[in-house]
Amino acid sequence: MDKVILHDKQFEPFIGVAELNAAIEKVAEKVATRYADSVPLFMGVLNGGYFFASELLKRLPITCEITFVKVASYHGTKSTGTVSQLIGLNERITGRHVVVVEDIVDTGNTIEHIVESLREKNPASIAIASLLLKPEVYRKKIPIDFVAMEIPNVFVVGSGLDHDGLGRNLPGIYRIVNN
Ligand code: IMP
Repeated sequence: MDKVILHDKQFEPFIGVAELNAAIEKVAEKVATRYADSVPLFMGVLNGGYFFASELLKRLPITCEITFVKVASYHGTKSTGTVSQLIGLNERITGRHVVVVEDIVDTGNTIEHIVESLREKNPASIAIASLLLKPEVYRKKIPIDFVAMEIPNVFVVGSGLDHDGLGRNLPGIYRIVNN
């Protein structure tokens, strides 16, 4: 793994593919145990969640469904600020065990909006699976049930994560070089 330049920023290797795979393997075992007796619906959050959804699902020896959603953010009125809307959810989730699959949980704002939207539809349960978590930044009460790796508060790309559209396809995780 060498340094890469994406737009105006430089990134250096941070987590290698083997280390990441080992972490995903462990999470997959926990997820498989938890849902051994049900048929959960995995909900990958695009764009970044495609990688972890794929890597996690191919390691799960359970019967399950997979779908993908997007979170559209737009500026509402002054009083509402930024409004997030979950789009692309066509499945009926009432009574289902739903596992939201994210690339990274940072402040937790995104995941909070997603969970609030899903709760309105009365699923049997909602769990969160995230490839990465920044515990120093996360301030919400919602438990992040399955985390492959915790990282410090640095900006990272690769394995689904981007810098302004670039870097999602990089294997492993790269962190920004502060200059
Ligand atoms: P949150 O709402 O603050 O938890 O941020 C979640 C979203 O911000 C993620 O789904 C990513 O799209 C983006 N994000 C947060 N941290 C990073 C990072 O280090 N690299 C790339 N994207 C990030």
